[in-house]
Amino acid sequence: MKTLIIYDSIFGNTAQAANFLADNLGLDALAKPLAETVAADISVAERVVVATPTHAGRASQPWQNFLKSLPANIWIGKRVAVFSTGLPARDKNFFLKIFLKILGYAAAPTLALLLKKGALLSGEPLDLMVATKQGPLLPGELERLSAWALKLK
Ligand SMILES: Cc1cc2nc3c(=O)[nH]c(=O)nc-3n(C[C@H](O)[C@H](O)[C@H](O)COP(=O)(O)O)c2cc1C
Repeated sequence: MKTLIIYDSIFGNTAQAANFLADNLGLDALAKPLAETVAADISVAERVVVATPTHAGRASQPWQNFLKSLPANIWIGKRVAVFSTGLPARDKNFFLKIFLKILGYAAAPTLALLLKKGALLSGEPLDLMVATKQGPLLPGELERLSAWALKLK
């Protein structure tokens, strides 16, 4: 298996996107829940895609705990890409808009952390949008994910 897509998901939207991506990338990709993932899975994968909901502008707590638990050198030379799911600021009330804008989304800070740990860039960070906290993914987001996947190195 070349690409391991590891996802955390409370309401199922990040899981849906991760499984869609695995289907899109073909036989050499596997989507796996974070709760079932161990460090050795990362070591054997050629490329790792981190998939996380945005929680308070960052990766979910389970992702943060998992990343902290890994051996420091595990990301060195590993190709990585990150996508998140989150809420679009438009159509939200004034305070939520400000909150979302200030906090931002999880993909960029998570990718930056992995690059700092020695990972190699496989693709730009991608933030997919959901309609409400529970979802669903907004129309066109899976197409955006497909287009992103085509550009992964
Ligand atoms: C505790 C919590 C914090 C959240 N914080 C943010 C946030 O800072 N920015 C944002 O865009 N969405 C935020 N959301 C919405 C989630 O991003 C949304 O529920 C998620 O994309 C759905 O993915 P899932 O179905 O895989 O859980 C938050 C949701 C929860 C439950």
